[in-house]
Parts: sequence; structure tokens; C-alpha cells
Amino acid sequence: MSIESFRTDPADLVLGDRVAGRLYTDPDIFEQEMTRIFESTWVWVAHESELPGPGTFKTAHVGRQPVVVTRDRKGALRTLLNRCRHRGASICEQAAGKANGFTCPYHAWSYGLDGALRGIPYPEGYDGVLDKRELSLRQLRTESYGGMVFATFADEIEPLTEFLGDAKLWIDRFMKQGGGYPIKVLGKHQFKFRGNWKIQLENTTDGYHFPIVHRSWMSSVDAETANMMSFMTDPTAVTHDLGHGHSVMQMVPGHSDLDADDGSEPLQARFDPVITELSRTFEPAEVRKLVRAMHGTGFNLNLFPNVSMSAAFFRVLRPISVDETWIEHIAIGPDGPPELDVLNRERLRVHEHFQGPFGFGTPDDAEGWDRVQRGAQGAPDMPIMVNRGLGREKPNPDGWPTSHVTDETGMRAAYQQWKQMMSDD
Ligand code: FES
Ligand SMILES: [Fe+2]
Repeated sequence: MSIESFRTDPADLVLGDRVAGRLYTDPDIFEQEMTRIFESTWVWVAHESELPGPGTFKTAHVGRQPVVVTRDRKGALRTLLNRCRHRGASICEQAAGKANGFTCPYHAWSYGLDGALRGIPYPEGYDGVLDKRELSLRQLRTESYGGMVFATFADEIEPLTEFLGDAKLWIDRFMKQGGGYPIKVLGKHQFKFRGNWKIQLENTTDGYHFPIVHRSWMSSVDAETANMMSFMTDPTAVTHDLGHGHSVMQMVPGHSDLDADDGSEPLQARFDPVITELSRTFEPAEVRKLVRAMHGTGFNLNLFPNVSMSAAFFRVLRPISVDETWIEHIAIGPDGPPELDVLNRERLRVHEHFQGPFGFGTPDDAEGWDRVQRGAQGAPDMPIMVNRGLGREKPNPDGWPTSHVTDETGMRAAYQQWKQMMSDD
């Protein structure tokens, strides 16, 4: 049966080796994705370092719905719908901050950090018609793993740890780039691309595009770094399907577990000034650990549906409409004594060099994503191919379907989850 013959159930638009081009362009499919995916599963909203103590908050989105993530007075993480219970105004427009609670700017109904409605001005008008206890801000289930905070509208779904499944091991490994210190957010920037959210979702574990799209980045770095990222013909560089739509692409397998270091790999000469600075305070073994993690962990972890962990940053995607997506790049580094500032400054420079708005990497990616959207306007019934490597994909000893890093295993993983969530039964 050909993919073009399906017209009704969106789940039928995904086959094992290809998906319908309409998945990028059909506004009805997009509407269904917002409810069946973004309002029905765990969606990343914050890193715990963004909420360091009681009263801290940040604004975010779950699908298209605006939320405020807070730490209440007792330190518990909460995700509250950013919508006043009176007539719907947003109660907070700040990206992040610290507060005792939130007061709606329209008629000044005020809410606690836990979402409880605390005060109403001129309350006489409500005598006998309103019970404050029934008008708390809507609260979403909120759980975290490894510092990554997720929220969901779906009260009945599995706990977060179950949803993450085997991806938890990779989150643990990713966080080792703190070099023994916890990870903290160093800074972030946002940009928009004119394309469907799944085009970005596909990209994080797409090793095939790397030497093509990122030729300018490859030619802008030193030989050691370019060599490290020349994984096209390395048979040990592989991508795993981790289940539940998650996947991981190991570009530099020798860095996947930073604790497994036999000491044979020299530190990169480009970091000599940082090494000299750090050596004034830290022991050589600690300096080595910190500097070796400068590029991150050598793998990209893609967590369905909206966050990926790559190099030294998180990438968060926010669907706006069928052909418009916001992306946030959140740079991270170790949270330790001030002597680490020199390292974190250098981490930001490495991050900007690829992922920054004027970087040598992300602008090229974004151009590719825009062009997929433009091209996919042609022949929406023609499939998008995700079959690369199907002939050589096999389960590895952990049972994860595995193929070469340039294969489309990660895309197939994401689309199988998409198919399951979008199907009627
Ligand atoms: S809309 Fe919030 S107080 Fe009226
Ligand atoms: Fe890329």
C-alpha cells in the first residue's frame, strides 16, 4: 500500500521507512499534534539551576500553552498555567525572576507561588458567588530527572522516569560534563525558523548532514577539533533508538562516558590558556576532567518531543504554527567556585562559535530547515525518506536498534512515537 493513498488517520502517514510530506505542511495535522502529543506527554520546561531557590520562577510553554515554572515556599517545583482564572490575562510576562507570588495586571487577582488564589480587590462584588479555593491557577504535573524539569497536562500517563526509560543513562552521562560539579545554565538565546517543528526534531540525531551543512564550521576550527568531528567513516560512531521516540547519536564514542578516560588523549592545544589558569587552583586530574568536557560529551541526545542535549547546551523547540518554530539554545557549564569562571567563559565562546546567532553552525542548520519547509510545499503527497541505514540497523547488546551515526535511526524512532501518539487506538 502506498503512503500517498492514506488520507484520513494521520498515524497512517508514517511508515517504517518514510513519512508523508504533509506532516510538515498540513495545519490540521499540526492542531492534532498539539493535543495528542504536546498536551499528552512530558514536555521539557526548565533546568533546575534556573530555579535555584524558593520564589524563583521562569516562564515557558507546553506546546502552545504558556506556563510559569516556580519553586514554591517549600522548594517544590510547580508548573502553573500562565492564565488568570478571572478573565484569562497572563499573570507573568517576565522570562525569569524571583517573587512572592503573581498579581494579574488586569484586575489584580493575586496568586501564591503554589498557584492558590490569595486576594481579590473589592471582594464585596463576589459575595455569595465565588469560592477562592476553586480558582487556583491550573497546575500541571511536574517531575524532574537529572536536573531536567518536565511538565504534563496528562495526569494519567506514566511517571517521567518511565517515559525517559533508557534515555536516563544518557542524561546521567551528559551531566558528567560538569567535571564533578553540578550543571548550571550560563545563558541562552532564542530564534525562530520558518518551518515545521519536526524538521528540527529530526536534525539533532542526523549525522548525515554534518560534513555537508557544517563545512564552513569544519573549516573554521583547528585541525584537532575537525579531526574529532570526522566521524563519517568511523564504524564505532553509531546512533541508537532508545524507545519512546528518544535517540542518541554518538559522534565521538570515546567521550560518551567522560569517566572512562585512560589518559591517552592529549588535551587540545587551543585550550592551553584555560589550562594554565585552571592549574593555579585545581589539581591536574581535575583540570583534565574539566577541559576534556569542553566540547560536551561527544553525543547528541534527542528527547521526544521538545528537548535535545548536545555539545555544551540544551536545545528546546516550541511549535508556533505548522510552519513556524521557536528554538532556544541554553548554554551550560559547571556550577562551582569563581575560579571556574575562566572555563565557563571559554565554554560560552565554543558554544557561540557553533550555536550562536552569528555562529558557524546553527545558521547553516536553520537555512536547511527553512529550505525543507519551502521544498515540501511541492508535492505534499510525495514522501520524506527516512530509510538510510535500514539495511544495516541491528539491536545492540542493550537491545537498542542501532546503526551508523550517519543513518536515520533517530528519525525513525521519533516518527514511530509520533505514529503511536497520533493513532486513534
Ligand atoms: S483578568 Fe486577571 S484579574 Fe481580571
Ligand atoms: Fe547541524
